[in-house]
Amino acid sequence: MLGSRQPASLSRQAPAKVNLFLRVLARRPDGFHELETVMARLERLQDTLLLEPLPPGQLELRLVAAGPAGLAVGDIPLTDENLVLKAARLLQPLASPAAAGVRITLVKRVPSAAGLGGGSSDAAAALAALHDYWSLDAGQNQLRALAAQLGSDVPFFLADSAWVLCTGRGEVLTPVSTSRRLPLVLARPAAGLSTPAVFRACTPEPHGPAAETFLKSLKTSNTSQSAQALHNSLQTPAVRLNSQVAELQRILQRENVVAHQMTGSGSAYFAICYSVRQACCIAARLRQLGVSWVQVSCTSA
Ligand code: C5P
Repeated sequence: MLGSRQPASLSRQAPAKVNLFLRVLARRPDGFHELETVMARLERLQDTLLLEPLPPGQLELRLVAAGPAGLAVGDIPLTDENLVLKAARLLQPLASPAAAGVRITLVKRVPSAAGLGGGSSDAAAALAALHDYWSLDAGQNQLRALAAQLGSDVPFFLADSAWVLCTGRGEVLTPVSTSRRLPLVLARPAAGLSTPAVFRACTPEPHGPAAETFLKSLKTSNTSQSAQALHNSLQTPAVRLNSQVAELQRILQRENVVAHQMTGSGSAYFAICYSVRQACCIAARLRQLGVSWVQVSCTSA
């Protein structure tokens, strides 16, 4: 449990992710969708959580926008709806009543409503950071269960592996062993997308392409084979709901890239490039075209 000494400040990174494969299998009676998705954490694109001591019982969240001007943080709630605060409230009962309070400064670089997992990653980082901050001894399983309570994508961000096959509603994890470091250019149009709205508008694909095929393709050294196996069941409904996604698709179609696809429930879109250099050149062209948020990154190996 908790020691009585004042904890030191600590910080934690909360990386973004992309979905390289996502198939919606079926609607579930609980309102969620059964899916199989392969997610990969990203390098060089992350939020940061900074934890600082406050008097016992106090909990405070501050938001700092650190991304480019196109990064919208205005729609991120600072109320109890915020996943970081929800994570803190879930863990607080495990700490002693005399435990130090905490001010969490959330430095945002990952755009929201983008399918990049920003909010989920923040929540996972908050759970892990507060667990250390309050010197708790919850096991991995307990933390994973709390993570799943916070959101379907949150357990992924607690995984040791950077690449994971996620099934169920997204919370059942199977690590994927790969050392693929794919250079990516990522873009988010001005308008984001609401995850529930995109899921509501999707048509499940019980007989669609299998994650297994994508995973097998990762084992070959041929990147274009993996490229052909990319899939996202949520892209068709997202394009119907947000024409800016279709616009990004058209722009990237004209580029000679390995492959391109929307991530998660959008509205961010990515292209797998042949090199970081090529990704930087495409990023420059996208910025020139006025795309509101553009970033170069790589999948973590
Ligand atoms: O789990 P999370 O809170 O992130 O999900 C947000 C919303 O996305 C859910 O309320 C649901 O409408 C939709 N969703 C879904 N099936 C999933 C994951 C999310 O329908 N597997």
